[in-house]
Amino acid sequence: MKISFAETAVPKSGTIVVGVSEDRLLTPAAAALDRDADGALTRAMASSRFEGKKDQLLTVLAPANLAAGRIILAGLGKVAEITALQLQNLGGNLVATLGGTGETEVSVILGEIADLPLAAGEAAAQIGFGARLRSYRFDKYRTQLKSEQKPSLKKLTVLSDSHSAAKKAFASLDKLTDGVFFTRDLVSEPGNVIYPESLAEQAQTLSELGVEVEVLDEKKLKKLGAGALLGVGQGSVRPPRLIIMRWNGAKKEGAQPVAIVGKGITFDTGGISLKPGAGMEDMKWDMGGSGVVIGLMKALAGRKAKLNVVGIVAAAENMPDGNAIRPGDILTSMSGQTIEVNNTDAEGRLVLADALWYCQDKFKPSVMIDLATLTGAIIIALGSEQAGLFANDDTLADQLIAAGKATGEPLWRMPLGDGYNKQIDSDVADVKNISGSRDAGATIGAVFLQRFVNGTKWAHLDIAAMAWSKKDAPTVPKGATGYGVRLLDHFLAAHYEG
Ligand code: BES
Ligand code: MN
Ligand code: ZN
Repeated sequence: MKISFAETAVPKSGTIVVGVSEDRLLTPAAAALDRDADGALTRAMASSRFEGKKDQLLTVLAPANLAAGRIILAGLGKVAEITALQLQNLGGNLVATLGGTGETEVSVILGEIADLPLAAGEAAAQIGFGARLRSYRFDKYRTQLKSEQKPSLKKLTVLSDSHSAAKKAFASLDKLTDGVFFTRDLVSEPGNVIYPESLAEQAQTLSELGVEVEVLDEKKLKKLGAGALLGVGQGSVRPPRLIIMRWNGAKKEGAQPVAIVGKGITFDTGGISLKPGAGMEDMKWDMGGSGVVIGLMKALAGRKAKLNVVGIVAAAENMPDGNAIRPGDILTSMSGQTIEVNNTDAEGRLVLADALWYCQDKFKPSVMIDLATLTGAIIIALGSEQAGLFANDDTLADQLIAAGKATGEPLWRMPLGDGYNKQIDSDVADVKNISGSRDAGATIGAVFLQRFVNGTKWAHLDIAAMAWSKKDAPTVPKGATGYGVRLLDHFLAAHYEG
């Protein structure tokens, strides 16, 4: 979908959107249009429950005296309380409302709105951002779609008196969207298409944007002693990979990087501790964390972010096989710590153990954040409303929570602690990969990871419930969400760029 910005004028065709604030107060653009339409908008409101509350939309078809086919009144709620997120949702809701109606073009007349807490250009850009985010589709494998099953809407224009500022603000949001879409694409692809080597090839496409990409194969991983990552991958005919991406955008050369690490299990059968068959197809998105890392690198490089970032992906396929690891096997991780694998389905923490160790050892990052679809237990605890956050630093946790609120990708802090950590002491090795109880399952995963961060400032985001959604949201169509890209982009821009 094409998003553009232009000067305020009344469009001669397509759908026109104007804002109405709470208590049916028309914005100047809406009032002007209502006059042109001989009061059709006021009458439409009077015969409906539309009150101008935020997220409300009222469609008026073929209004008298106007060339437009439709007018949509968009509820703005209390103008002084409008947020960037609300404007994104408005853009997204318009795309959802018009998407398959047969309409091809929509123009949002923002005009001048008094008391708007955002600059007009920024507000216009946020509407365009939300619209583009919602327009995402993954239908490359649907070869028999009829034209009426495809979206009709091709173009959204936001009209304001600050269209050049809007264009400028949108340019970086557009790059951010490219990153979100890359994540959604990678997560949507099935396990026969995305496996460790092909995931690495996808990451390598970022070199066009100036990202340095290095891929470590089994031979190199063996040399590094990455026994945990290799152990998980050994049951698959598709060998594991450690993917390292570097974006060096800091003004000061050699500035300490921030590191983002992702779980990249391209398919999780559970291994010898095999998962039940029903629903196993969902485990194609067990590389969701790594999808976020790769998409985020694309966004940061695309908008030429002024910081140094290392993105690391631990990619493996968890399969049952004659050569697969068995329950009870003991692996020696890159850190030197030995791990008793009592459940081969707790594999994400194993691949991350080596990735986190490698990351802190090699890059000495100022902060290290991992994302992983790590546990079913976090879904039980939080549902699909927010991701679980674990952190060994309160300031870092607070900054991430604030970034989550600002971007609509919320986080809820969960505990770490000695009492939990003791539960993974092994009788035969340094650590075991499960506690043997269902209690506090998400925290058990997190304290396991913590044993491999070596005191680095660190946060772990358990996104098991967030990587994929079964229902549409204003800026996220159902399917792969890209949850985490906007959150981390915002967090990095707020605290590490400059
Ligand atoms: N990939 C799963 C976690 C998961 C489950 C993500 C459901 C999304 C939906 C992970 O590898 C796993 O299997 N975890 C086990 C851990 C257990 C064996 C300690 C789990 O959560 O059941
Ligand atoms: Mn598993
Ligand atoms: Zn898994």
